[in-house]
Amino acid sequence: MGRLGVAILGATGMVGQIYVQMLSRHPWFEIKAVTGNSSVGKRLGEAYRGKGHVPSEYADLEVLSSDPAKIDADLVFSCLPTKAAREVEPKFAAAGFPVVSDASAHRYWPDVPLIIPEVNPEHIELVESQKKRRGWDGYIVTTPNCTTVGFALPLKPLVDDFGLRYVNVVTMQAISGAGYSGVPSMAILGNIIPYIDGEEPKVSEEPRKILGTLVDGEIKPLDVQIDATCTRVPTIVGHLEAVQVELERDVSVEEVKESLSGFIGLPQKLELPSAPRRPINVFDYDERPQPRLDSDAGEVPGMVVSVGRVRKGKRPGTVMFVSLSHNLIRGAAGSAILTAELLYALRKVR
Ligand SMILES: NC(=O)c1ccc[n+]([C@@H]2O[C@H](COP(=O)([O-])OP(=O)(O)OC[C@H]3O[C@@H](n4cnc5c(N)ncnc54)[C@H](OP(=O)(O)O)[C@@H]3O)[C@@H](O)[C@H]2O)c1
Repeated sequence: MGRLGVAILGATGMVGQIYVQMLSRHPWFEIKAVTGNSSVGKRLGEAYRGKGHVPSEYADLEVLSSDPAKIDADLVFSCLPTKAAREVEPKFAAAGFPVVSDASAHRYWPDVPLIIPEVNPEHIELVESQKKRRGWDGYIVTTPNCTTVGFALPLKPLVDDFGLRYVNVVTMQAISGAGYSGVPSMAILGNIIPYIDGEEPKVSEEPRKILGTLVDGEIKPLDVQIDATCTRVPTIVGHLEAVQVELERDVSVEEVKESLSGFIGLPQKLELPSAPRRPINVFDYDERPQPRLDSDAGEVPGMVVSVGRVRKGKRPGTVMFVSLSHNLIRGAAGSAILTAELLYALRKVR
């Protein structure tokens, strides 16, 4: 089988560079085109600011503008800034491209799936009504905010096994989450910023859609309240989150650990190339997980969400834990690649 040609919109950014690394020698996908803004006209090797070198097979790709007429690909990954994504992604979908996007621009449209492949693969069916309603030959599928993934994924087995009433999450988000030119060094070095503009509403709402049920072609959000406090901390990669949940019944710590560590989803059953064997890794040591030590966890580095410090709260049914996810991999490029693998396996990409 030949590999599918993919394009990356925003390939020179923090997230785009991860795609370039992850799609080096990918068994199903090959990068055919890359786009940018200030780097248009440069070779990708020259515009690249990531770790190591650009894989040699992609170093000479010319950075193009994000115009569908210039792109020859079977599928498009978009990691554009929100404003550009709002304008550009519908043009690609209208031109017949399947678009898998990390941007927030279209996540909340009712007919756009917001996917964590292990959690809600059935929501992918929404693309059919999206295409019909909008008269597009292509479609848009989105991945969640980098912070949402770290706790929405562990919530899934808890919802299924015990029922969920309430969630409170406090996040400690790395600076790479704000993009290459994101947070000024004078603001963040030796400091913590207790607010991230626009983040808390996303983190409170997205899990309700992801954990919702597809009924008659529409998503009915999960009936749960989520409160969030989002902070920026001076780590480089890996969002750490302190999560407190109220379950529908009292459970033991061991039951919760078993529920989390035993969880697998459709990507594991289908053995998709970027799926870790188990998506949630549970630590028994109080000092873990840590961003520097554990962000790259898993046999597909960065695709595992690590959970630790599982313990009971004082009120019956209340459980607390800490979770960690690689914001650029499981929180962005890796999630989108796994979603595209799922789309391909479900024959939504030709
Ligand atoms: N960073 C994370 O952890 C993370 C996680 C999940 C989702 N996201 C989302 O992913 C997207 C990208 O984030 P990032 O952190 O990679 O940002 P970034 O480092 O600022 O990169 C932005 C990319 O978009 C290109 N670009 C900027 N303006 C453009 C325009 N008007 N038209 C076309 N291309 C344009 C830039 O090209 P040049 O370099 O050539 O100027 C660069 O390739 C955002 O929507 C963000 O919210 C980020």
